[in-house]
Amino acid sequence: MKALILVGGFGTRLRPLTLSVPKPLVCFANKPMVLHQIEALKEVGVTEVVLAINYQPEIMLNFLKEFEDKLHIKITCSRESEPLGTAGPLALARASLVDGSDEPFFVLNSDVISEYPFAELIKFHKSHGGEATIMVTKVDEPSKYGVVVMEEKTGKVEKFVEKPKMFVGNKVNAGIYLLNPSVLDRIELKPTSIEKEIFPTIAADHKLYAMVLPGFWMDIGQPKDYIIGLRLYLDSLRKKSSLKLAVGSNIVGNVLVHESATIGEGCLIGPDVAIGPGCVVESGVRLSSCSVMKGVHIKKHACISSSIIGWHSTVGRWARIENMTILGEDVHVSDEIYSNGGIVLPHKEIKSSILKPEIVM
Ligand code: GDD
Ligand code: MG
Repeated sequence: MKALILVGGFGTRLRPLTLSVPKPLVCFANKPMVLHQIEALKEVGVTEVVLAINYQPEIMLNFLKEFEDKLHIKITCSRESEPLGTAGPLALARASLVDGSDEPFFVLNSDVISEYPFAELIKFHKSHGGEATIMVTKVDEPSKYGVVVMEEKTGKVEKFVEKPKMFVGNKVNAGIYLLNPSVLDRIELKPTSIEKEIFPTIAADHKLYAMVLPGFWMDIGQPKDYIIGLRLYLDSLRKKSSLKLAVGSNIVGNVLVHESATIGEGCLIGPDVAIGPGCVVESGVRLSSCSVMKGVHIKKHACISSSIIGWHSTVGRWARIENMTILGEDVHVSDEIYSNGGIVLPHKEIKSSILKPEIVM
């Protein structure tokens, strides 16, 4: 089987992290987001993944080479010269997605995290005889997403409304689809939205089906949701393979620590923390609800909560970093600094406190 991952877009809502790498390469739970997806696709027998891309293709291509070999899966790039939206890229990659057979292919948004129940998706898709299946999930704030109204019993989609202004329902498009090749006949090679232009027409033909996604789901394309997603992911890891989580008297709740990271004496880490490769956490540090990326150095008695610390940054002694502070790559925070929601661009030195949420350029 084949799969296409929509990796275009500038990832502006995840800046400053996406100033260093394209959104799919931002680490989530110590692994680039897109790798979580590629690994899960491989598990259900996908042999080729097409990355539909229109931004920073060189970085993506370099990254791909390494993982093609490691994962034994073919990864190619389909490069747009202008952004083609969420459907146009399928038309562009048509030749890579179909091989004359009727075999369906996967399409994924690159920023959605879940247990990727692809096997269940395949089973359901084969059972209903429609052209396309989308996975849906219940959320509290449906207006940020594509809302799906479906027949409870059969899963047949009656209506698909992208980002509705008025309440239509609380089941939303999870950004995970299985499509028959015939769907490609509905898409022209031009900027097109699959949500606004393609799904509504398949639904009108009674050939669009939806399946409620089992397990957790989150679109992690925004910092707040990224941190919530990390909690959900670690919860699920606890249930599925708890041996991957850290244990010890200094650990509270679910914590992921890369084997090459070191943690000093008297720290208290967790819940909901990921510490990446090569990180040095000195003694007496307190970490909760945060993601600490590769090569970060956290000095003695620093305290970090609800924040993301970008690659190779340093946090000084007694510093207090909280409330959705996002440090870009290679940011250096001096001793005793307080950051309340600072969004700090890469390669900055922070020598005075950030008292309210703001962007530091
Ligand atoms: N190749 C390519 N070209 N990819 C694109 C383009 C483009 O022009 N525009 C967007 N994408 C990719 C994004 O990188 C992302 O992976 C995916 O398409 C969806 O775009 P987002 O910008 O993340 O959309 P959204 O989060 O507002 O809404 C989408 O996702 C929701 C679930 O998270 C929609 O699909 C909603 O219906 C859905 O509920
Ligand atoms: Mg998104």
